[in-house]
Formats: sequence, structure tokens, C-alpha cells
Amino acid sequence: MTEADLYSVYKGVYMPNLIHTETSLQYFQNFTFRAEDILLVTYPKSGTTWMQEVVPLIVSGGDPTSVETMPNWDRVPWLEEIRTSTLNLEGRPSPRMLTTHFHYTMMPPSFFKVKPKVIYVLRNPKDVFTSIFHYSKMASFLVTPDSQTEFLQKFLDGNVIFGSWFDHVSGWLNADDKDRIMYISYEEMIMDLKDSVRRISQFLEKPLDDEVISKIADRCLFKNMKQNNMSNYSAVPHEIMDPTKSQFLRKGIAGDWKNQLTAAEADYFDAVYKDKMKDVKYKFVWD
Ligand code: A3P
Repeated sequence: MTEADLYSVYKGVYMPNLIHTETSLQYFQNFTFRAEDILLVTYPKSGTTWMQEVVPLIVSGGDPTSVETMPNWDRVPWLEEIRTSTLNLEGRPSPRMLTTHFHYTMMPPSFFKVKPKVIYVLRNPKDVFTSIFHYSKMASFLVTPDSQTEFLQKFLDGNVIFGSWFDHVSGWLNADDKDRIMYISYEEMIMDLKDSVRRISQFLEKPLDDEVISKIADRCLFKNMKQNNMSNYSAVPHEIMDPTKSQFLRKGIAGDWKNQLTAAEADYFDAVYKDKMKDVKYKFVWD
């Protein structure tokens, strides 16, 4: 199936029809934020699910109840998704934990007025590409890549779900009111998860004992999260996500692009990256 069959275009970017409807997008557009909200923002495949585990554990002071009993999509729901309007977020106590894949320019009016805290997770785009390539093979609501070369071009052109990685990252890095945004990379979390948990807890003004931080970091290790049925997507029917084709929690490493891209593809990727990111003043860990 093609983009025309599976996606609609919203504010210039592709969104999969199965999980986003006109009503769900309208719901987000009219959403009223609270100043105490914690909004997790990512381009797809950058570490969303990981952060949907880390943040609730920090907010609960290490109590695992919510990560053991609520699926990640209810625990830290995507504001743009179809089920979210049924969750009664208006009735949830603060701090509410919310997720979006939206670009900065797509955020609704209340976001700019109320200024909730934002955690923005970045990941090496070559690994994002690798992850999304495998994900597109297992998720029935995504266009299956014909070939890696063809899909690479689509990714670099932004003709994939949620549009261009380059626009997403540069848009959020150039956001106003940066003091309410924490930028953290997938790679920093891989390098030192405990330190990442500590920094996130400081940003959320939820200081925790060293022992609690260690426990949270341990729970959020790839091998442990893979066992958590509330976070590993095993609850999704196989006709929607087929685990025989690829796993949602697939490899969980930094640098897997080296096993995926040919030398020529990596060089081409680098050239496009250099051009598209030339005006972005940010020290990316992978550069
Ligand atoms: P890979 O496909 O490279 O393994 P998202 O949640 O934004 O869709 O991102 C999914 C990616 O994050 C997948 O990458 C997944 O394996 C990885 N991931 C999820 N939890 C992780 C964890 N605890 N540690 C490391 N990587 C994790």
C-alpha cells in the first residue's frame, strides 16, 4: 500500500490514518495545557517509549505501579492519537505526563501561552532511519519500504510519517523559551542512564535519592524494559504490529546504522545532513 492509502497530510506532514483522525487532531489543536504538565517531544524512533518509562518513574519517586499496570500509550499518551480524547486527561491530577511527535510549528495555541515543561529527545538520524526502516516493515499502518535506497530518499526528503527529521529537530532547537525545554539525546542515555535520570529529575524539580535513581535506571535498561508487557508493545494485535518481522524494542543500541547503511548511503546521508543542518548551532553528540 502507498502513502495515499495509509496516510493523510496534516500541516504539511504525513500522519498514519489508523491512529490519527480529523477528530483526534482537532482534540490536540484545542487542548488546554497546564503549566505543571510535562510534555515529552520526539521525532519517531528517537527514544519515546524509553522516556515514557523514565519520566513516570521519576514523577512517582520510583514507585513502579504505573509502569507495571498502564500501557505506555495511556501512561504518557500522545496528544494527537485517536484514543487520547477518551482518556479524560482533563480529570488527571498534575503533573500530567503527555507525549507528542508534532513539530514546534504544529503546537496548539495553549502550548505557547501556558508554557509547560518539555523534554525533547534527540537521536542520531542515521539510527532513527535504521529504526524506522525496520518499524515500517512490521507496522501495518505504515508504508512498507520497497527498498532501502528508496526509503532512504523518502526519509531525507521528509516523505515519511511526521515529516522531515531535519525540520523537526531544527524547529525544536530554535524554540522560544528554551529554559523550559530540556534537550537530551538517546546517545547520552545509552552512555550513562543513571546520570540522565538524575538530570531529568533535576529538570522536573523532583530530586531523588541516589538509590532511587539507580533503581529507576536499572528498570529502564533495554533488557528489563523488553520484559515489561506494558512497554514492549506485546499487547498490540499482531495484524497491526507483526513481531515476526521486527520487534518494537528491536536492538536498543547507538550506531546500528553501521550495520544498515552502505558506505555510499552513509556518505550521501552525511552530505544531505551537512547541508540541511548548516545553520543549526547545536553540539550534537554524534557529530
Ligand atoms: P531500535 O529500533 O534502534 O532498537 P520510539 O520509542 O521513539 O519509537 O523509539 C524506539 C527505539 O528506541 C527502538 O530503537 C527501541 O529499541 C529503542 N528503545 C526503547 N527502549 C529502550 C531502552 N530502554 N534502551 C535503549 N533503547 C530503547
